[in-house]
Amino acid sequence: IIEEHAPNPAAGDADRPIGYGRIQRKEDPRFVRGKGNYVDDIVLPGMLHGAILRSPVAHARLVSIDTSAALAHPGVVAVITGQDLLGLKLAWAPTLSADVQAVLVTDKVRFQGQEVAFVIAEDRYAARDALELIEVDYDVLTPVVDVRTALDPGAPVVRDELEGRTDNHIFDWEAGNAAETDAIFASADVVVSQEIVYPRSHPAPMETCGAVADFEPIEGALTLYETSQAPHAHRTLFAIVSGIPEHKIRIVSPDIGGGFGNKVGIYPGYILAVVGSIVTGRPVKWVEDRSENLMSTSFARDYIMQGEIAATKDGKILALRTNVLADHGAFNATAQPTKYPAGFFHIFTGSYDLQAAHCKVTGVYTNKAPGGVAYACSFRVTEAVYLVERLVDMLAQKIEMDSAELRLKNFIKPEQFPYMNKTGWEYDSGNYERAMRLSMEMAGYDDLRREQAEKRARGELMGIGISFFTETVGAGPRKHMDIVGLGMADGAELRIHPTGKAVVRISVQSQGQGHETTFAQIVAEEIGIPPEDIDVVHGDTDQTPFGLGTYGSRSTPVSGAAVALVARKVREKAKFIAAAMLETRPEDLEWEKGRWFVKGDPSVGKTMAEIAMGAHGTVTLPEGIDGNLDAEVTYDPPNLTFPFGAYICVVDVDPGTGHVKVRRFIAVDDCGTRINPMIIEGQVHGGLTDGVGMALMQLIEFDDEGNCLGGSFMDYLIPTAMEVPDWETGFTVTPSPHHPIGAKGIGESATVGSPPAIVNAVVDALRPFGVTHMDMPCTPARVWAAMQGRPTPP
Ligand code: CDP
Repeated sequence: IIEEHAPNPAAGDADRPIGYGRIQRKEDPRFVRGKGNYVDDIVLPGMLHGAILRSPVAHARLVSIDTSAALAHPGVVAVITGQDLLGLKLAWAPTLSADVQAVLVTDKVRFQGQEVAFVIAEDRYAARDALELIEVDYDVLTPVVDVRTALDPGAPVVRDELEGRTDNHIFDWEAGNAAETDAIFASADVVVSQEIVYPRSHPAPMETCGAVADFEPIEGALTLYETSQAPHAHRTLFAIVSGIPEHKIRIVSPDIGGGFGNKVGIYPGYILAVVGSIVTGRPVKWVEDRSENLMSTSFARDYIMQGEIAATKDGKILALRTNVLADHGAFNATAQPTKYPAGFFHIFTGSYDLQAAHCKVTGVYTNKAPGGVAYACSFRVTEAVYLVERLVDMLAQKIEMDSAELRLKNFIKPEQFPYMNKTGWEYDSGNYERAMRLSMEMAGYDDLRREQAEKRARGELMGIGISFFTETVGAGPRKHMDIVGLGMADGAELRIHPTGKAVVRISVQSQGQGHETTFAQIVAEEIGIPPEDIDVVHGDTDQTPFGLGTYGSRSTPVSGAAVALVARKVREKAKFIAAAMLETRPEDLEWEKGRWFVKGDPSVGKTMAEIAMGAHGTVTLPEGIDGNLDAEVTYDPPNLTFPFGAYICVVDVDPGTGHVKVRRFIAVDDCGTRINPMIIEGQVHGGLTDGVGMALMQLIEFDDEGNCLGGSFMDYLIPTAMEVPDWETGFTVTPSPHHPIGAKGIGESATVGSPPAIVNAVVDALRPFGVTHMDMPCTPARVWAAMQGRPTPP
């Protein structure tokens, strides 16, 4: 299964993929045979099935609920309402952002699709049928739908149950220096201002959310199988909320069919499955359907950004500022490190060397589903990158400069790293010009511009869009970053069995990213045992060390580092054992991949397998070295890692219909040291496809009554192979100086970087019509309207 990897001329010596590089994924044999084990595959003896009754309206007082007919329905075992949960003190649960969220409605419905009652029955059909028999009387209220008017005096108050609450304001948060920034704007030659909307989208993983709860009353122990990107953090929160001691809770996240931020939070359905199991004394499964997932689980984005960029007339960017209105829906359930209510949005200065920057974000309640999660991005980096990359393109258009040239002129230079940006981030490493030039070379940028000019002369609409992004991934460090008080660090444990086979246990949870392969590769690189002899265990709190989980591309930067360090610890221990076995001193030994040997006499040495057997054998070990070849570490990252990329998108717009075709897409990514180039390419392909969805097709919209208009895949469109081109990927390698193997994250780079490239290309194509900006998604109707100079249709 080992393939040679092609060396990359642009990366030079720095590209040295880890642990055999481009090997096939260890997990694929079970996936391609349909033998994956997802939550809905879990079947326990005596298991019951739960279904949730959801509100048809967005804002209403709950007058009464009558569950008697549902309870009488054949097969129904129990019906749980908000009143029942009040008695158990479980009607409200803490969110990940220091707010509370109703598990079941007790007083007032606050969004369409909110959880109202839970039916538990012998099978899924009976549970669903019984939902229709529940009589609910709603007193419908005016909903708060438009975030722009949510703070107006007299607007209905969404969260009137909160003491003293008279408006829909959640928080104001800012970063950077307002006074310095304003002073630069006041004297700048050129200022470009634009309202830029990143519309509400949804992570829409292929597998929806679900749980199987199994409460064992004699021991008072709970086993919970659930779709979770963070099993350990969930266990702690379940212990706090339920009162079940943490050591009596086991959370298992088996195979996960995509997370993308959607499976970070704890949804009412998970809690209801647990309550249902406690109440009935039997295991309870709850698995939502597609509409439930789209309408009630965490959305993403929904930022209205007033953005401004200041520059000299010859194109030196001086400053950036923005005011953001953030729609958080009915409960503040975003998943962000506590200190940063707007996530990492303040990386909005992008890849440019500026003099000043300032951003202010205001969070607001509306009658919409809660969430605001990092959909395949590191805590609002996507919104930040979209803002700056649109503004840079608008500036280029205004000063009539080529947009690649403008970027090249303003990049942070390699010698400026580590670079402290104006909002407090220390970028670890980068060579932006190298990546930009490689993407231009791959694209044949000058030829593309020539082709475009010829086509424009013939009335054809071709657009070339560039985006250059810097991400900030790998949260912690724990002193700055926590989620509900849990510091963002991760653990790893490595055990080498006597026969030299290994098992590494990690605290992050794969949702398809290939951790079972790449984490084995890191160990293989460090101690020389081949990846196929190393099992990676994840997703079970009884089997793995504590850690904060997988989101924000943090697995490789944090857990990947933990795995490298635990392997080094084992390697070091192996030296002492080998010395004892060879009856020599540890300092007389030298390491080569897979074995310690005597300096100057390479024929005398011990392989890792021999050392593992020795550790468990009869040789007398030195004091302080115990009889095994195991180790554990918890890694607290000193900083985040800052991957980056240069993307170029070529589109053709049909002047008759407004339809946008992405003809070419060139993506050059730099994620530092690469472990498995094939997996990296897969991550990039997926993220780019996501980007096409967001830029051209997807929108979770609401009508005036707060009805969700994106509640199925008929309305919320998912890009397929038909809508995307053959991706052209390239890479450069700029290792992270502080990561043990120099790796940065890659999982989300393409989702972050691609939407601005596509929108910039569409706007570029529409230049002959005087278009300078359009909001996503660039649907045919919107593009057509832009060509006619008409307002954007919904
Ligand atoms: O946290 P998440 O797994 O979503 O993101 P990631 O850490 O960026 O990793 C995504 C996948 O790409 C994992 O299998 C990584 O080990 C792999 N990867 C890699 O091979 N080389 C890198 N420099 C970064 C990630």
